[in-house]
Amino acid sequence: MAISQSIIEEIKYKNDIESVVSSYISLKRRGKNLIGLCPFHGEKTPSFTVYPENGSFYCFGCKVGGDVFTFVKLIENLDYIDAVKTLAERAGVAVVESSQDDTLHQLKNTILEINRETARFYYSNLFKPEGKWALDYYLSRGLTPETVKSFGLGVALSGWDTLTKHLRSKGFKFEDMLQADVVSKSSKGTYFDRFRDRTMFPVINVRGNVVAFSGRRRTEDKTIAKYVNTKDTLVYNKSQNLFALNFAKAHCSEQIILVEGNFDTVSLHQHGFKNVVAPLGTAFTKEQAQILSRYTKEVILCFDSDTAGEAAVEKAFKILEPTGLSVKVLKLPVGKDPDEFLKKNKPSDFEKLIAAAIPETEYKLMKAAGNIEPESAEAKIKFLNSAISILASNNDPIAVDLYLAKLAKDYEVSKETLVTKLAQIKKSRAVAEKKREVKNIVEKRIDRNDVNPEKQGNETAAAAEEMIISILLKHPDHIRYITESVATYFVTSLNNRIFGAICEDIKSNQNCSISNLSDRFSDREIGLIIKLLNSEFIGNGPKETLMDCISVLKKEKEMSSNSLESDDWVTQMQKIAENKKGN
Ligand code: CTP
Ligand code: MN
Repeated sequence: MAISQSIIEEIKYKNDIESVVSSYISLKRRGKNLIGLCPFHGEKTPSFTVYPENGSFYCFGCKVGGDVFTFVKLIENLDYIDAVKTLAERAGVAVVESSQDDTLHQLKNTILEINRETARFYYSNLFKPEGKWALDYYLSRGLTPETVKSFGLGVALSGWDTLTKHLRSKGFKFEDMLQADVVSKSSKGTYFDRFRDRTMFPVINVRGNVVAFSGRRRTEDKTIAKYVNTKDTLVYNKSQNLFALNFAKAHCSEQIILVEGNFDTVSLHQHGFKNVVAPLGTAFTKEQAQILSRYTKEVILCFDSDTAGEAAVEKAFKILEPTGLSVKVLKLPVGKDPDEFLKKNKPSDFEKLIAAAIPETEYKLMKAAGNIEPESAEAKIKFLNSAISILASNNDPIAVDLYLAKLAKDYEVSKETLVTKLAQIKKSRAVAEKKREVKNIVEKRIDRNDVNPEKQGNETAAAAEEMIISILLKHPDHIRYITESVATYFVTSLNNRIFGAICEDIKSNQNCSISNLSDRFSDREIGLIIKLLNSEFIGNGPKETLMDCISVLKKEKEMSSNSLESDDWVTQMQKIAENKKGN
């Protein structure tokens, strides 16, 4: 750990979890805790809980949890140290890093340095004779030198190792260049440039670091991949970044425009549309949708107006649905992408297209109505049924009322009939949703993706282990009842590891702090610890329960060596309690 524990504690103390989380999502009070919609997975009923009492959070849906640092780390997509620094800045605490930084963090920094140097090199290539073609290309596509500079556009030259040599001359190691994915290694063991003879777009994250590159082929030679993109690295996850969000983030609180391509993004920015972003690579992901929902209220989809573009719109609707964002579709003239549109039209024409963007519901209704025969009653019925099911997904009662009135008028049916039909559909959806929930709960009991896979077949022991951990987290002083031998009774290795870490921490600090555990456990493992920290007690007092659990574990251990059938966990606890009463 590069930042001292006392500073970490101070930062934590000055950033109460309630206000930090509230700055990202809205929370409602429930008893002494707060609940809200989980920002880490799409959901409609809140299962995300904040526990101000001990400064932690846990989502019962996706099972992530942690303290205020984990929260910022996940939501801002940072590593742990950067999350600590972000919260330090927020609270005005000065952070002094000790010189012995941990190696992973160091490697990430090196990758970022390599990326920054690479971007600089690609940009400088534009002004060399070998790279002049690329500058000419940018200009021919209508970009100004200022735009090229502010986006840091550049060119990867055609040689095999111009970048590799350059980075070498700056003292970077081949191994680190590989980690940054700007260099590849041949089967013979030689290193060569990953991107060659391409115009280059750096991907800059919201903290201003160059995290990746996207390179477009020089010619229209169809035998060469049109774009080559950085694969995921220690500092880059394609599905958690959006191209140009670093520029757009300050201009998109009301509305963000999502386009398909890099050139579209850059030219729209140049023409004053600063709230434009693009997914990286071809697919728009649910993580990217979640990110958008943190920055804006409304997404305008601006895809090519061809069949592929229409399919992309339908897909984006589905991906954006869980975010609750308002979604509209901007219609471009057939066969154009935004970049081409701007070349032949004025920015004010594009503004008109934005103003005329069609709300999701209306778009779907238009599509559904698109091919019905106006005279056929059967076609009308079919359309009205799909129209009502489209409206059932709209949560704005005013909008729904207006659409119903219009449908009733246009198709000569009574509005009451449509209202009844809508209520029916909503009801059957609610029933289906309830069924799904129940099914989920049942499936969770036999969750094969459980963070502790060894639970399977060891349910009783695992439950006792978890209870012991839970009690120690809540009553660290109860460590006095823990003897050396207890650790040897643990069956599942994850719980054993958690138990060991907690005991160690309590022994040296009299207390156990989640921030001390963060670097030794994965996010999902921390999630389990937080769940145990906040789980409710049942039955006896903590000391009694602790002793009972230890007995259960001991008995389980004995039984597994005698390979007898074991009772379930509740029965065993009851038996132990009864035996004691008898004594
Ligand atoms: N893309 C990709 N890999 C490909 C093709 C496309 O990653 N093989 C991504 C790129 O981010 C690209 C976007 O999908 O910007 C849209 O693709 P396309 O419309 O083909 O490219 P444009 O950006 O429009 O490029 P140009 O205008 O030069 O044709
Ligand atoms: Mn294009």
